[in-house]
Amino acid sequence: MSDWQDVMLPPGWRLVVLEETGSTNDEVRLRCQDEAGLVVLAEKQTAGRGRRGAAWLSIEGESLTFSVLLRPSEPKAIWPRLSLAAGMAVADALGRYGIEAEIKWPNDLLIGGKKISGILVEAGADYVVVGIGLNLGTLQFPEGLEATSMAMESGRSVQGAEVLSFILTALDGWSREIGGGFPDLLKRVRERCALSGRQVRLISGNRVVEGQVVQIGNSGELIVNTPDGPKSFLQAHEVRPI
Ligand code: BTN
Repeated sequence: MSDWQDVMLPPGWRLVVLEETGSTNDEVRLRCQDEAGLVVLAEKQTAGRGRRGAAWLSIEGESLTFSVLLRPSEPKAIWPRLSLAAGMAVADALGRYGIEAEIKWPNDLLIGGKKISGILVEAGADYVVVGIGLNLGTLQFPEGLEATSMAMESGRSVQGAEVLSFILTALDGWSREIGGGFPDLLKRVRERCALSGRQVRLISGNRVVEGQVVQIGNSGELIVNTPDGPKSFLQAHEVRPI
């Protein structure tokens, strides 16, 4: 267990640590009247949620699971860019440990194709919840799970409080770059894009599209060359390299 009182928070941010909860995203939604900068972390999450309704399983004491309440001043139409901002924040924090992660659009963090972190961004009427799950200390994952952890990648154990401090500082910075500063954020995400040039299968509702990824477009969308020509995809889509 980490010593959470050592966490360094950006100015005005607050940390609530829960021993156990269903999902930290749900906890933050319950507190959505609060001011921006509320961080809820759970030592144990019993009903963690992933994107597209999938479950997110985390091992107690071996992973970081937390959610942050944000109130972007930018128009709601560009809030989905926070997915890229959150991905970059985790990538920056991993970089502090010499771990260079790729970003699988919009915000899965991969190392050699194995997932180290997943991010779930959910918007309400006037707020956004950024939920982050990061594998810290796991040394063995269940058979068939293509996953890795900070301990496996760095060869040492890491302090959750320190990792959380790095992520929150970076998230505070990148989340301010979804408006005028977006070209810089986009440039950094493109440098880490795990999908550029890759053949992918996109699942959108019950439609399946295959094609070659061109790049992440200027608004943060994924551009894919399909048999029907280039098409742009929103972040709601599921994308898998094939
Ligand atoms: C994904 O890869 O599909 C996203 C996974 C997001 C998991 C995190 S853990 C903290 C927060 N609470 C949740 O219920 N989900 C997110």
